[in-house]
Amino acid sequence: MFEKLQPAPPDKILALMAQYREDSRTDKVDLGVGVYKDADGNTAIMRAIRAAAKRLHDEQTTKTYVGLQGDKDFCAAMGEIVLGDAVSADRLRVCQAPGGSGALSIIAMMLNRARPGATVWISDPSWPNHIPLLSGAGLTPQSYPYYDAATGSVRFDEMKEALRGAAAGDIVLLHGCCHNPTGADLTVPQWEAIADLCNEKGLFPFVDFAYLGFGDGLEEDCAGLRALARRVPELAIAASCSKNFAVYRERVGAAMLVGANALDVDTAFSQLLSVTRSVYSMPPDHGAAIVRIVLDDPELRADWMEELEGMRSRMVTLRRDFADALRRASNSGRYDFIADQKGMFSRLGLATEQIDTLRNEHGIYIVGDSRINIAGLHHDKLDDLARAIVAVAG
Ligand code: LMR
Repeated sequence: MFEKLQPAPPDKILALMAQYREDSRTDKVDLGVGVYKDADGNTAIMRAIRAAAKRLHDEQTTKTYVGLQGDKDFCAAMGEIVLGDAVSADRLRVCQAPGGSGALSIIAMMLNRARPGATVWISDPSWPNHIPLLSGAGLTPQSYPYYDAATGSVRFDEMKEALRGAAAGDIVLLHGCCHNPTGADLTVPQWEAIADLCNEKGLFPFVDFAYLGFGDGLEEDCAGLRALARRVPELAIAASCSKNFAVYRERVGAAMLVGANALDVDTAFSQLLSVTRSVYSMPPDHGAAIVRIVLDDPELRADWMEELEGMRSRMVTLRRDFADALRRASNSGRYDFIADQKGMFSRLGLATEQIDTLRNEHGIYIVGDSRINIAGLHHDKLDDLARAIVAVAG
């Protein structure tokens, strides 16, 4: 059997993560994988998560199965955080999923049951795992123009033009906020225009929502998605708790379906749960139970929001100060876009050889498309880093 297989190509982000771990240089800098780091370079367990995990340990009385949907209170809390009152409860169904990737996968497999091999439009560029994940579910990826490297902003007219060429029943994958890998987000009026386009052309919006709370704030980051949800009859959302609750390894996510009416959404949800049953049966409980405890307890929730806001504002400050350092080093405003972009990622616009030089000669680890993780920056090393980048960029 196995002799029939060829080795799978390594995932670029995970390969870089492994390379960084093996590098023995003490002054190495990790700007690769998208995990939040504090000023000491640690990916700490959040205070509220630690307290909730202790409570769960002390109070949980059974480890029996949770059921196909997972923790129902977790699902309700996630629906409320993400959608607020944008859609009525009878049109919304939520199930737990193993991380944002798990949510993307089960939704994609369910959509593939509705329309086998349907085209899914993906931003160019996008998270490198989107294409393998969605095509692995049976969908057919197609890209739409998204990022203008010259201005650091969204090529909105070209994006709309490409989507005008989509066929009824096609799926449009959108990043809810903090676009990965560019940090360039749609404005609320642009979300509304995309919603109108989806309605006009009969396109199905599918939102990857992995960085809620890392852009402009918890409520602000939902504004575009909620504007979309208010306008379209149907929608799917893959929400991740990995980053904003810092529970990466626990694999906590939620798959959300919005339907035109209760009957339609119940039918789609039954298919979604049947996908999960056929893939992993029931979701893992531990991480979602911890998140549920945090969200259901007003004190823990307030503490989580405060700590999340601290993480967000640290990234905003790092963006501003790094753009300043790059302006000093390059004597130009060519990297000013970094200050305006949102969330964890921006792209420096470097070529592969330049990225290799940064890694080999300076111990600076950047993903191969020149994406940097803003949270990996250290305030006291910004000038050194900026000088190294400008030296290789020329
Ligand atoms: C990233 O983009 O670095 C993260 O989402 C981690 C991953 O799984 O790729």
